[in-house]
Amino acid sequence: RDRINIAIDGPAGAGKSTVARKVAETLNYIYIDTGAMYRAVTLSALRNGISIDDKEMLSVHAENIVITLMPGAAGQVVLLNGEDVTTDIRSREVTLHVSQVSAVERVRLRLVAMQRQLAQSKGVVMDGRDIGSHVLPNAELKIFLTASVEERALRRFKELNGRDSISLEQLEREIAERDRKDQEREISPLVCAPDAIVLDSTSMTIDEVADNIVNLSRTKL
Ligand code: C5P
Repeated sequence: RDRINIAIDGPAGAGKSTVARKVAETLNYIYIDTGAMYRAVTLSALRNGISIDDKEMLSVHAENIVITLMPGAAGQVVLLNGEDVTTDIRSREVTLHVSQVSAVERVRLRLVAMQRQLAQSKGVVMDGRDIGSHVLPNAELKIFLTASVEERALRRFKELNGRDSISLEQLEREIAERDRKDQEREISPLVCAPDAIVLDSTSMTIDEVADNIVNLSRTKL
């Protein structure tokens, strides 16, 4: 075979999207950031004044919006009903609510169907929480990418570079809380698939992690 699917899962801020993008670029594969889809639903619900506790309204809303992922110059571009929301879905407001929205069964059903469709012709690097365990159980290569919560908070803190005026301690608490919600939800929670390869990026550079995954992918061809 000449192309495989690669699933990259792990907790918030482990570097999944940066690594996944690099791997996709190197292999000439399509990069799919599934977290961006859950973020787009969350952004849309917030904008439309839908209560984050109203599962029925969230479900209907998720079923009626159009989310489009497109390759762009700086990675993946996300369109919500045709509008570019690539930057807006990264807001703190969205980040604080996304785990609750993503715990809703029908929201997941809708997005998982899209994700499976996108991976049908192989050659995708998909990152998220449940890709190897649920969305693409037959992915030829599954990676579970972790790093200590301190390191993940520190990376995010440096990335924010003073925007958002949030302390390192607060960031660490929010990341830990999001992980807890993602791990404890009933439907396809964040877990390490039994056949996933665990990579701890705490003391690895992005390039080292990406090279590692590219080399592993070659063993699967
Ligand atoms: O990857 P990112 O941090 O952007 O994901 C945002 C949120 O979307 C996660 O915290 C999680 O609640 C949800 N998510 C999910 N399943 C995925 C990807 C993301 O539930 N496959």
